[in-house]
Amino acid sequence: MNYLNKKSVEDIDVSGKRVLVRCDFNVPMKDGEITSDKRITSALPTIKYLLEHGAKVILCSHMGKPHAIFTEGFGLNKKEKAKVDALPEAEQAAAKAELLAKAKMDDAKKFTLKPVADRLNEYLGGVVTFAADIVGDDAKAKVAALEPGKAVLLENVRFDARETKNDPAMAKELASLADIYVNDAFGSAHRAHASTAGVADYLPAVCGFLIQKEITVMGNALENPKRPFVAILGGAKVSDKIGVIENLIDKVDTLIIGGGMAYTFMRAMGNSIGTSICEEDKIDLAREMMAKARAKGVSFLLPVDNIVGRTYDPETPYMRIYSDAIPDGWMGLDIGPTTQELFAKTLIGAGTVVWNGPMGVSEWDHFASGTIAVAKAVADSGAISIIGGGDSAAAIEKLGFADKMTHISTGGGASLEFLEGKDLPGIACLNDKD
Ligand code: 3PG
Repeated sequence: MNYLNKKSVEDIDVSGKRVLVRCDFNVPMKDGEITSDKRITSALPTIKYLLEHGAKVILCSHMGKPHAIFTEGFGLNKKEKAKVDALPEAEQAAAKAELLAKAKMDDAKKFTLKPVADRLNEYLGGVVTFAADIVGDDAKAKVAALEPGKAVLLENVRFDARETKNDPAMAKELASLADIYVNDAFGSAHRAHASTAGVADYLPAVCGFLIQKEITVMGNALENPKRPFVAILGGAKVSDKIGVIENLIDKVDTLIIGGGMAYTFMRAMGNSIGTSICEEDKIDLAREMMAKARAKGVSFLLPVDNIVGRTYDPETPYMRIYSDAIPDGWMGLDIGPTTQELFAKTLIGAGTVVWNGPMGVSEWDHFASGTIAVAKAVADSGAISIIGGGDSAAAIEKLGFADKMTHISTGGGASLEFLEGKDLPGIACLNDKD
C-alpha cells in the first residue's frame, strides 16, 4: 500500500489551533508501572513539534482491552459470562450486576492512561493535564482551558464502547473538541475505530512524524527495495504469516523461514518433525508457497538443523539434530548452528532485510541462540534493516541490537498488515497532498 503522498503536520498551519492527536500509548504495564515507554518516546517528536508551533494539543489513545469493547455497551467477558450462566436463573441478574460493578472498578484502575500522562510530563516539563473522561464534561472543560503550547491527555478511548465500533456519534464528539486531527498511532492504524479513522470524516486529517516514518521506511522497502531483498519470517504459526509470505514472495530475492512455522514447511517436504508444532491444515499451502517461490526464482531457505527438546519447557533436555532426522518425541525449539551460519552467510551483502518473528523460543535461554545469531547477522549486514513490531521488536530490544537496526516498527499487528499489503484504515483516512 503506498501512503507516501499523505499530508503531515508540516503541511498545515497548527498555530493557535486545537489539534487532536491519536497516539498509541498502549504500553506494557506491570503493577501500575509502565515497563517500556518506547511508544511514548516515539510519539514525542510530533507532540513537541505541535507544542513548539503554538498548538493546543489534545492527546488520546487506547490502553489494553477493557470490558467496554467486548459487548454492546459495557458487558461481561467470556469467562464472566460462563460463571453467570452456570448459576440458577434467579441468581443470574444480581451476579451479573456484581461482576460488572467489580469489572468497571478493575478496568478503571488497570487501563487508565493517568500513568502515561505522568510519564509524558516527565518528558515535556509538566505541560500535560489529564482529563478523567473522553468526550465528557472534564475533557470539554480542560480543552476549553488549553493555552497554545499546552496539552491535555484524554482518558482511555476504549472506556467508551462506541470506540471500537467506529460509531460516528463518538467520532463527531471527538471531532467537536478540535480543529485538526493528527493520527500518529501507527500501532493502531490497522483498526477502523472512532479515534483512529472515524474522526477523520469530520476534520482536516494528517499524519504525525511516527506514522510518516513508518510508512516511508516500510513503504520504500516494499515498493523500491535496495537489492538483494531478504525477508526473514519466524514465529510459531504459518497461519499468522500467510498474507505476508504471499505479498513478499512477489518482491523478495530470498525468503528465510525459521521459528515454529518452519516445521509445517518441513512436513510439507516430507520430513518427520517429531512433536514439533505443525498446522496440518496448512501443509498443502506450505507446499504451494514453496512451489511458487521456485517458479519465481526466489531462494527459499528452511532450517537444515535444529535444537530440539523433549517438552515445551525452558529446562527440558535438548540436543542438536538435522532437519531430516528429528526423532519421535522431540520438538524443534530453535534453529541449529549450521542453520545460523547459513542464514548469516545469506545476509552478507543484502541491500534490504525485513524481519518478523523470532527463530526459536527466544525468551528461554537454551533456545535463544538462533534469534541472537540472526539479529547479529542482520546488524552486521549493513543492509537497510526493518524489524516488524510485536515479538520480534521485543526480542531485538531485549537482546541489545535495537540501535543497530535501521527501523523497528512500533506496530505489531499494524506492521504485519502493512507487509501483507493490506489497507490500513487509520492511514487511508488521512488527507493526500494536492
Ligand atoms: C498493539 O498493541 O498492537 C496496538 O496497540 C493495537 O492494540 P489492539 O490489538 O488491542 O487493537
